[in-house]
Amino acid sequence: MKTIYWNLNKGIIGEEDALVIEEAASELKKGNLIAFPTETVYGLGADATSNIAVNNIFQAKGRPSDNPLIVHISNKKQLHDLVESVSDKVEQVMDRFWPGPLTIIFRLKKDANLSNKVTAGLDTVAIRMPDHPIALELIEKANCPIAAPSANRSGKPSPTEAKHVKEDLDERIRGIIDGGATGVGIESTVIQMEEDHIYILRPGSITKSQLQEITPLVEFSYEKENLDKSSIHEQIPRSPGIKYKHYAPNGLLTVVKGENKQKVKQTIQSAIDEAKEQGEKTGILTFIESKKEYNADLVLTYGSRSRIDETAHDLYAALRMFDKNKVTIIFAEACSEEGMGLAVMNRLMKASGNQVVQV
Ligand code: TXA
Ligand code: MG
Repeated sequence: MKTIYWNLNKGIIGEEDALVIEEAASELKKGNLIAFPTETVYGLGADATSNIAVNNIFQAKGRPSDNPLIVHISNKKQLHDLVESVSDKVEQVMDRFWPGPLTIIFRLKKDANLSNKVTAGLDTVAIRMPDHPIALELIEKANCPIAAPSANRSGKPSPTEAKHVKEDLDERIRGIIDGGATGVGIESTVIQMEEDHIYILRPGSITKSQLQEITPLVEFSYEKENLDKSSIHEQIPRSPGIKYKHYAPNGLLTVVKGENKQKVKQTIQSAIDEAKEQGEKTGILTFIESKKEYNADLVLTYGSRSRIDETAHDLYAALRMFDKNKVTIIFAEACSEEGMGLAVMNRLMKASGNQVVQV
């Protein structure tokens, strides 16, 4: 299949751009797959009401079919067609954070017009209203809810630029809308609400403290890898996707954590030197402030140590760049887990398959 590539890098400015969105929307209605930008990462969209279309997503990504998808909507009417009921607290959350990088799990309406492949047979559905003009216009024009996982091959880092989508899915999907680099850089925060409680199933750029503006009862409900096993709650909801390998580069990635920066640096550099001696192609992921202090085949940065909220923006592009350069051994400096840093560390830990060295 030839993949159409539409360039809307400068946004929807003129009539021609509007026609591109219409063309892409009509492809969606035919059951075809269209990759589109959101404020978090690129999504791989399909008509969420069509079994055939949704099945195409799992095929194109190589995604396990028991991992449910997020339904993207552009208005609240679409929400009420899909879900059982919406409590006042949930309304408050939506009013505060939608459109935006927050996915909410709802109880699915019994007669909802939705492919059961979207929810992988669960009685709940994940819904989000993305904060991106191209995404919103595309959903509006398609006039149906759009199921969209991140537009990468399963297991790879999510795409934050259209060229990443092309690397992974060229000739597997009908079209890619290039809307430039995405703003946030990591996937939405996923939450489930029960009465006054908010459970965070996947951390993201909407942080625990932001959610606490709505209710103080906000808890994490995902495995914090090996870091903090004691805080795992067994009884509360989980995201099925959390169990799969994710975001991984081809090279072996190890994360190095520690308060003492000098020690972290020495540990990384000596491991890299040793790997180099053994003929490996080496890579280091660090911060702008430390870039010059390291020596490896490829030294990349994911922002500044003092601006942790921005580190998400470049993380996936860096992981993909290591692949492009065929780097075989990668060491990454951990970032602080303050604010959005928590979500960034969650992705970095998964990308490394939990390979951590604490110094
Ligand atoms: O920012 C994002 O969320 C991006 C953009 C494209 O919107 N999408 C995205 O989709 O990250 P995906 O498929 O890569 O991740 C969806 C996550 C998975 O962890 C999945 O298990 C979880 O949402 N999920 C979906 N439906 C669920 C449900 N009913 N209950 C619990 N978790 C669910
Ligand atoms: Mg994904």
